Amino acid sequence: MADPLDTARERITWLRKEIERHDHLYYTLDQPEISDREYDALMQELLSLEKEYPELVTPDSPTQRVGGQPLPFFSQVSHPQPLLSLSNAFSSGELRDWDLRLKRMLGTEDLDYVVELKIDGLSVALTYRNGYFETGATRGDGITGEDITANLKTIRTLPLKLSDPVPLLVVRGEAYMPRIAFRRLNAEREASGQVLFANPRNAAAGSLRQLDPKVAASRALLLFIYDVIEVEGVKLETHVKTIEFLKKQGFPVNPEWEYCRDMEEVIPLCSKWQEKREKLDYDIDGLVIKVNNKDYQKRLGHTTKSPRWSIAFKFPAEQGITRIKDIIVRVGRTGVLTPTAVLEPVRLAGTTVTRASLHNEDIIREKDIRIGDVVIAQKAGDIIPEVVTVLKEERNGKEEPFSLPEVCPECGSRVVRLEGESASRCTGGLYCPAQVREGLIHFVSREAMDIEGLGPKVIEQLLNSNLVKDAGDLYYLKKEQLTSLERMGEKSADNLLESIDASRERPLSRLIFALGIRNVGSRAARLLAGEFKSLDNLAKAQPENMTAIAEIGPKIAESVAAFFREEHNLQVIDKLKAAGVNMIEEGATSNGILAGKKFVLTGRLAAMTRSAAKEKIVELGGEVSDSVSKKTDYLVAGEDPGSKYEKAVTLGVPVLSEEEFLDLLEGR
Ligand code: IVH
Repeated sequence: MADPLDTARERITWLRKEIERHDHLYYTLDQPEISDREYDALMQELLSLEKEYPELVTPDSPTQRVGGQPLPFFSQVSHPQPLLSLSNAFSSGELRDWDLRLKRMLGTEDLDYVVELKIDGLSVALTYRNGYFETGATRGDGITGEDITANLKTIRTLPLKLSDPVPLLVVRGEAYMPRIAFRRLNAEREASGQVLFANPRNAAAGSLRQLDPKVAASRALLLFIYDVIEVEGVKLETHVKTIEFLKKQGFPVNPEWEYCRDMEEVIPLCSKWQEKREKLDYDIDGLVIKVNNKDYQKRLGHTTKSPRWSIAFKFPAEQGITRIKDIIVRVGRTGVLTPTAVLEPVRLAGTTVTRASLHNEDIIREKDIRIGDVVIAQKAGDIIPEVVTVLKEERNGKEEPFSLPEVCPECGSRVVRLEGESASRCTGGLYCPAQVREGLIHFVSREAMDIEGLGPKVIEQLLNSNLVKDAGDLYYLKKEQLTSLERMGEKSADNLLESIDASRERPLSRLIFALGIRNVGSRAARLLAGEFKSLDNLAKAQPENMTAIAEIGPKIAESVAAFFREEHNLQVIDKLKAAGVNMIEEGATSNGILAGKKFVLTGRLAAMTRSAAKEKIVELGGEVSDSVSKKTDYLVAGEDPGSKYEKAVTLGVPVLSEEEFLDLLEGR
């Protein structure tokens, strides 16, 4: 008689193959052979067999896609190398210029390309180790993203296992929501009175950033993979070969790519797809043109933001005709006055637009924009609406010219315009309620201290009721003060206090960015935090200490120094310090139990993903690097370790098993 375990194994193998085949028929080919009900029955049978024989569960079983418990939060993952974005071209002329530039740099006349669709979704990076899907992350700011592995697993076309396993493979792609799924989702949300998603991209991003994987599983997301970021064991000489490799490994690759022998073959594709984009089942916002030869790609390299070997051709913005009802003036965080047109609502690129930035006074003069004008409005790059031209023939003489006020509409201080600047600024500084308000909105924003539940409305209320005068005061708020605000219940107050509390632990770079120092963006903030390690050190630094950092110029350095000369700023920092807000760079000066220890990881860990292990080490003060050297303190070797293992042994670097590593983390 056959061993029941063998029978189960056989049936399980068959069921898995069958489910995968139906997934492919349904999701990729759009030709289902069986009903949803029959499909569910196969899945149910597999689930119950795996329950009976847990030893037969494998990480690539289709049952491993759904389920999972809701997460308390997403952990952050540092990308092994920055995930860049693309620079844009808006015309065939710009494409030809780019082609010439590359040829000049490479010293060749022969340059072939691949053209792909630019999918409008959420950029993701997937890591496969020894053939198995390990982690998936969002692009985030390009340096760190969020670990959304559980949600990505719910995407049926994402291979859980490679067809032809390699030791390491990191790929990049775009998760997206097909238009039909988007319309269905919004119809459901409308019926149940929920807020609608503005477009499929937001819906896809919103679904993948849900902490409960069951929500993502219900959202019909799909995926296209378009590039290999890192691979061990295979040499890919061209982008065409990369695409073929990805297909062979079982990745969903967009079929609409084309090989072009030169730029003249690329150009006609731009207008072809502009026409055809409407017929696709998903949104695209342009084309991506890539140099085919990887050797050339390597030689061209990249700037801090984008690779030189690729460019995005963006379709012209969608335009519409509307009327300017009014022009209002907004005062920003740094006091800049921005005139904004209030428009009759107009549909542009899938959303209703009622505001358009007019940027500054010069632009209003140049375009002769008046209140009451009929104008052509467009969404530039499908994001920020703007006024393109005035239809002067539509004027009836009642239109009113506009100039910026001479005093700030929010605080009455004088408005000045510095020589050589197009911006007009309110001179009120911290006496200007708008600047204080905008400064606080910036302080709590996602890229800064990331305090959830503290939207502009609540900030406005906190300021109006004098509970808060600056960012430091946020950390001293009491529950009864919050519940005294309009529409703030017990639960929201508790949640808000919790998020404020959690923000005390943000890395130093976030705090530096949050302080709103002029000219200091998030990248500069990271560089400064990395160099100076604590806010006190930064406050004491001379401009020349800062400009010693490669990307920090005199303008940034002077702004930082000026910020710390301001008495008021020092007072705010004192308040933050007394409230226990983190002021040091994590790991660097920390006295965690792994302080100063250098780790290298290899192989598959059973108890946690590699990125989780990495995070843990850094949290305890250690460092993680990619390659083994004499300076390495420990190599942590999981299952199937790579060549790093031999190297560590050769160099006499201590090797820890996973168990020993876990003991070390526990401080045993
Ligand atoms: S290549 C390093 N190819 O467009 C180059 N990007 O700003 C990586 N995108 O963030 C980009 N479709 O999310 C590439 N076929 C495609 C793409 C694509 C969509 C997105 C991607 C990236 C953004 C570029």
